Amino acid sequence: MMKIIRTKNYDEMSEKVAELIAKEIRENEHPVIGLATGSTPIGAYKKLIQWYEEGNLDFSDVTTVNLDEYKGLPRENEQSYWYFMHDNLFDHVNIRPDHVNLPDGMNDDPEAECARYDQVVASTGGVHIQLLGMGHNGHIAFNEPSDSFTRGTNCVALQQSTIDANKRFFESEADVPRYAYTMGIGTIMAAKKIVIAVNGRAKAETVKAAFTGPVTPRVPASILQFHPEVYVVLDEEAASLL
Ligand code: GLP
Repeated sequence: MMKIIRTKNYDEMSEKVAELIAKEIRENEHPVIGLATGSTPIGAYKKLIQWYEEGNLDFSDVTTVNLDEYKGLPRENEQSYWYFMHDNLFDHVNIRPDHVNLPDGMNDDPEAECARYDQVVASTGGVHIQLLGMGHNGHIAFNEPSDSFTRGTNCVALQQSTIDANKRFFESEADVPRYAYTMGIGTIMAAKKIVIAVNGRAKAETVKAAFTGPVTPRVPASILQFHPEVYVVLDEEAASLL
């Protein structure tokens, strides 16, 4: 089941996404929530923080698993996804630090780190809802367009287009890490529910390809068409070519 939810703008999209996540936090005794970085989910995180502050959302039993992390960036680096998640969500709610999981970008041994992270995700007992953004080229997490879908956590070389898109956050392009650890498509697809948020005119073309075109690893997000329960939350501009 793929449900396309059209919203007016970024704020409405963010609220809808936050509602879907909050529902899982309220309905499960030990909620396991998959989280994402990027500019897209920031508004949804603001909403979750607001509901926590208002006393309507409790993170004390929540476990999180994040999609990805740059290889070679320590946690204290402001561009690491560890830093991003604490800055934009974890530092503002009552989540337990030992319930927060991300790939370890400082583990030099890709094989060991990928195996460790797969084990971490498996040990949660399953993700209730996984939040995703989408890259301009249709990538989800850091699973870039390729000839095949990835299975478990893997170490990827970032494509030039992704490096270009992300360099705005770094002092210079040379500072953008070239590799990242990312959950595989198989790991992502194992989540019970998935919510993917996309906004902006620049991604409208890819939205159309991913959710109405053929399922292909050339557009990694298209695999979501095969997931049993996925919510595609779009603003007006991202939905403009549907
Ligand atoms: C990065 C992340 C993805 C994210 C994508 C889109 O490459 N690894 O998880 O979905 O960028 O980012 P944004 O939301 O900033 O457009």
